[in-house]
Amino acid sequence: SWRPGRGPQPLTFGAVEPNTADALTVAAGYAQSVVIRWGDAVVPGAPAFDAYNQSPAAQEKQFGYNNDFVAILPLDHSDRHALLVCNHEYTNEELMFPGFTGLANLTVEQQKTAIAAHGMSVVEIERVRGTGQWRPVAHGRRAYNRRISALSTKFRLTGPVAGTASVRTAADPAGRTVIGTLNNCSGGVTPWGTVLSGEENFNQYFVGADGAPQEAKASLDRYGISTATRYPSGSRQWDKADPRFDLTATPNEANRFGWIVEVDPFDPDSTPRKHTALGRFKHEAANIVIAPDGRVAVYMGDDERFDYLYKFVTHKRYRPGDNRHNLTLLESGDLYVAKFSYTSAAEIDGSGKLPGDGAFDGSGVWLPLVKDNRSMVEGMTVEQVLVHTRLAADKIGPTKMDRPEDVEANPVTGHIYVALTNNTQRGTAGKAAADEVNPRNANKHGHILELVEDRGDHAGTSFTWSIPIVCGDPADPATYFAGYDKTKVSRISCPDNVMFDRSGNLWISTDGNAFGTNDGLFAVPLSGPEAGHLKQFLTVPKGAETCGPALTGDGESLFVAVQHPGEFSGASWDSPASVWPDGDHAKPGIAVVWHPDGRSIGR
Ligand code: FEO
Ligand code: CA
Ligand code: CA
Ligand code: CA
Repeated sequence: SWRPGRGPQPLTFGAVEPNTADALTVAAGYAQSVVIRWGDAVVPGAPAFDAYNQSPAAQEKQFGYNNDFVAILPLDHSDRHALLVCNHEYTNEELMFPGFTGLANLTVEQQKTAIAAHGMSVVEIERVRGTGQWRPVAHGRRAYNRRISALSTKFRLTGPVAGTASVRTAADPAGRTVIGTLNNCSGGVTPWGTVLSGEENFNQYFVGADGAPQEAKASLDRYGISTATRYPSGSRQWDKADPRFDLTATPNEANRFGWIVEVDPFDPDSTPRKHTALGRFKHEAANIVIAPDGRVAVYMGDDERFDYLYKFVTHKRYRPGDNRHNLTLLESGDLYVAKFSYTSAAEIDGSGKLPGDGAFDGSGVWLPLVKDNRSMVEGMTVEQVLVHTRLAADKIGPTKMDRPEDVEANPVTGHIYVALTNNTQRGTAGKAAADEVNPRNANKHGHILELVEDRGDHAGTSFTWSIPIVCGDPADPATYFAGYDKTKVSRISCPDNVMFDRSGNLWISTDGNAFGTNDGLFAVPLSGPEAGHLKQFLTVPKGAETCGPALTGDGESLFVAVQHPGEFSGASWDSPASVWPDGDHAKPGIAVVWHPDGRSIGR
């Protein structure tokens, strides 16, 4: 068992080698099974999946496409019963619809099916007796099961932007109710048992920005919504299915996406909310730490090259057990963006070489954007700062980062870890060059950042930071694994979602492995003699991104989301590049991994 001061529980599994297999490959001795896949029944009355007879109505009862974030929430304090909550980030229409000949050629029925495949799922699951395996509850009441979709689920806007001119539309003149959630990437679980989900690349669903009012264009452009052409190539043209996706007609509709969403899976009748106080950007995820004074800090990344790391601090304090109160916490608070300082910036040459003092490290401050309900950005109102958060942040000089993805606190130390996935444009013409906190130019493999709040105060405004891991091939001198013997570590590329086990080991899943081999899940101790000994625990089938991950409270079952298996140029339903999980066509799905001896995952 884990001994304090000696580092976290050892990770004794044998590393999985890099590969290109069309399989979920797990560490030797571990078992796996598929829990649920795209098209499986979620709510009562769901028809059996039939690729040739898909419909929006069927999809709204079935498990959606492209599962990213996964939360496992115990039911009735039991370790045998839980709710699985999952994000359905986006769709691969070419892999969904037989006979696909291009996005522009989809029928409106198919477009609506794809819209319905976006969103989230809540699924009641049970543990198979005597093992670490889990499966959906087949004959339960299914009272909790729920599909939240982009097609029909109503969301309530909360916070300072709710009801303002920025979010009013002809269909919602009050500016308080949004249909659907889009591009939900990763997320987090709150201490009060709800799930937070980040609306990330929502820009891709809108067309017609060239016809939007001139004053809206700077923001549309900053958020990656093309203002130059009505139908950007590869666009889904969803305005055919629903005119609100045409920004010429409804320029404010884009302002109703790009938020952090909160869902209470234990109340299936609850209206999910979009919390505007947390700002609007390409939200990767949101993870919470309770500050010493009881206020709640929410850490968030904006996943874009040269974008920023954010923190939100609630005005009110967390009250254990008082969920009526806690459900209101994210509706008001202060929003900050991170500015990093360096002790040795002059020595950073962009190669990844450590500076003379032997570490990439320094201090930093959280710059306020909104504080005490007042805008801290000259010339912008609170409404403007929260809706056009990127433009507001640009004005106050935060540090441009290498695509901040998931951000999570180590439950043992309270230190914050940020996955910076990659930034191949770092140091290229006209772009920011390497600095100490983003130390490599043309950064194709990414790095992990550690942030330690001063005095452990997560509501505070100053911190120190360091980089424990610079990803890549350990044989490459431009990599770093906390000083560990690099001949013993696995190569890793493009960190994305992060998770901690109970003893404080960091688990990292990857997306877009620049070595050309499959993505995977890695684990690494952060303290003690094994600090930096990073090993690959599993790899996902070819073409897939590794998502989730999530551990059960007892540490014996690991859930991993296999997102977009077989996503390769030219692949289709009829000619799939992957046949995971059923041996015929590629389908995203969630798998569970366990050890038949009942060991903790990683032993
Ligand atoms: Fe959907 Fe930033 O990954
Ligand atoms: Ca991600
Ligand atoms: Ca995470
Ligand atoms: Ca990613």
